[in-house]
Amino acid sequence: MKLDSLFRTKSVLDIQHELAAGASAGVSLKRHLGATSLVLFGVGVLIGAGIFSLTGMAAGEYAGPGIVLSFVISAVACALAGLCYAEFASMVPVSGSAYTYAYTTLGEFFAWIIGWDLVLEYAAGAATVATSWSAYLMKFCGQVGIPLPPQWAASPFSIIEGTQVHGIFNLPAAFIVALMSLVLIKGIRESAMLNAVLVALKLFVILAFIGLGWSYINPANHQPFIPPNTGEFGQFGWSGVFRGAAVIFFAYIGFDAVSTAAQEAKNPRRDMPIGILGSLVLCTLLYCIFSWVLTGLANYKEFSGLSGLAPVAVAISHTPYKFFTLLVELAILAGFSSVIMILLLGQSRVFLSMSKDGLLPSAFSELHPKFRTPWKSNALFGVLVALFAGLVPGHIIGEMTSIGTLLAFVIVCVSVPILRRSMPQAERPFRVPLVPWIPIAGALSCLGIMASLPGETWLRLVVWLVIGCVVYFAYSRHKSHLRQP
Ligand code: ALA
Repeated sequence: MKLDSLFRTKSVLDIQHELAAGASAGVSLKRHLGATSLVLFGVGVLIGAGIFSLTGMAAGEYAGPGIVLSFVISAVACALAGLCYAEFASMVPVSGSAYTYAYTTLGEFFAWIIGWDLVLEYAAGAATVATSWSAYLMKFCGQVGIPLPPQWAASPFSIIEGTQVHGIFNLPAAFIVALMSLVLIKGIRESAMLNAVLVALKLFVILAFIGLGWSYINPANHQPFIPPNTGEFGQFGWSGVFRGAAVIFFAYIGFDAVSTAAQEAKNPRRDMPIGILGSLVLCTLLYCIFSWVLTGLANYKEFSGLSGLAPVAVAISHTPYKFFTLLVELAILAGFSSVIMILLLGQSRVFLSMSKDGLLPSAFSELHPKFRTPWKSNALFGVLVALFAGLVPGHIIGEMTSIGTLLAFVIVCVSVPILRRSMPQAERPFRVPLVPWIPIAGALSCLGIMASLPGETWLRLVVWLVIGCVVYFAYSRHKSHLRQP
């Protein structure tokens, strides 16, 4: 085996030629998305389980009102990585995202690893959010007097709360994945339209929560803003603020999925940076204000030990607007659906690029003759992710999603200065300022958040990557188009 073949790279020029050839032959994805749609895609995938479920838990158990600072810290790490994504996405506007960026810089083996790793972010992320969706649906149906059988909303490997009974299959979780996959098969325009409606709904609820709750904030709840450390690392004090940042990092997962829609953007060179950075800035602002109101309405101690919808419901109970709770639940269901949809979109687009490069079977890049979507890939992932969401408990895959995403961020940050050196003359419509310092700071801050994740999560990541290596050496390496003369 020749080692240098592992590091063969794909040139940016080749990618640009492929794009042009696909477009003129009429076999490419449809270019329907403008800057607004892309920002909405970002917001659609960002606002979900992170802000609506984890904020209360992280405030109650780690950071107190300082959770607002945790959101800022996590946002800084994401913004540094986001700048690097924006440079690549405007320069190489194809659907492979971090996978393609690595292919042009670090070589095929790293590209494969990152593509394989992105399954954790997108497919596992979609399954995680689907299990939260199922929990909210159960809660909502129970409150409106339509109780659903709990065994059919739980994994066979988990025990139903307050009983000794095992679940059978998480049917609602599987259902929402299947439904969102069908929308994706139908078309990018339909997906974008549905996303816009769902995003409007969740933005309305967040803004209404902020607007109505603001005047009921009790300033005493924000004192002390950073509660003193209990003597244990990560439990309040500054270490708690940092641990809180690692937990609520989940709320920022997905902004990079905007870059997987690069081939469907009308003007990717201008709109990719706007989509990626715009959605990140908008959500950071919303998250900070939302968590400020949340911890101002109720004392952070009230959130300890709670999960699910509880943090928002607890906060609302301190206002005269308790009727608002049901509406919030509905908006959360809608909000989670768009997160699932865009994560699944990202998954199919990354595999599309890998398949076009020969590293995966061609079924993953076959476009539907009418809808021009990678329908076989959408259907296959629809079934696999639905089964996964139905069978595996959500908490196990949640942390896997975070570590997989962070690894992708680190590789993208490292790739920017490498490509600046190897291809200094390439056209870069958007340039990261202060290279190499911003990419280095981005990589280090993402590594810092990774370090705060538990050892088992690291072990699961390693196992997943080892499986990826086996597939690469048994199949992809031999089928790679770069191997063909
Ligand atoms: N950022 C997404 C969420 O919080 C994944 O649900």
